[in-house]
Amino acid sequence: HLVYVLNGPNLNLLGKRQPHIYGHETLADVERDCRALATELGLDLRFHQSNREYELIDWIHEARETAGGIVINPAAFTHTSVAILDALNAFDAPVIEVHISNVHKREEFRHHSFVSRRADGVIAGFGTQGYLLALRRVARLIAEKNT
Ligand code: DQA
Repeated sequence: HLVYVLNGPNLNLLGKRQPHIYGHETLADVERDCRALATELGLDLRFHQSNREYELIDWIHEARETAGGIVINPAAFTHTSVAILDALNAFDAPVIEVHISNVHKREEFRHHSFVSRRADGVIAGFGTQGYLLALRRVARLIAEKNT
């Protein structure tokens, strides 16, 4: 099974940007760890990042045809994007939302997520480990679906 791991705006700066909030690991480190775990779980992975809303939407559309699940950190689009929510609503396999930081401990405007209306699960505040936990959950949901 194929799983998409999608990352929204500014996550290309992971490791350099506000390390006290997001840690020192880069997105390349996260990708490496996700690929290692995916191999262990028997999943194929597409790992993408974009600062452009439409690119994330296009990848979600692409996933409709090919993927068994999506792990998404929509970053700031979490709090603004009805378009990403609509795209995910057109995808009918597991979706897990990931936030590196605990958004609920932060500013009020980070407490609302459009994407959470669709996500089957949400992970926040586990640092970059959240991606790995999310992948494990997607693998489990895919396995349950196929039994
Ligand atoms: C984030 C939290 C968002 O509020 C923020 O805009 C981000 C990253 C996180 O991973 O903690 O860019 O999604």
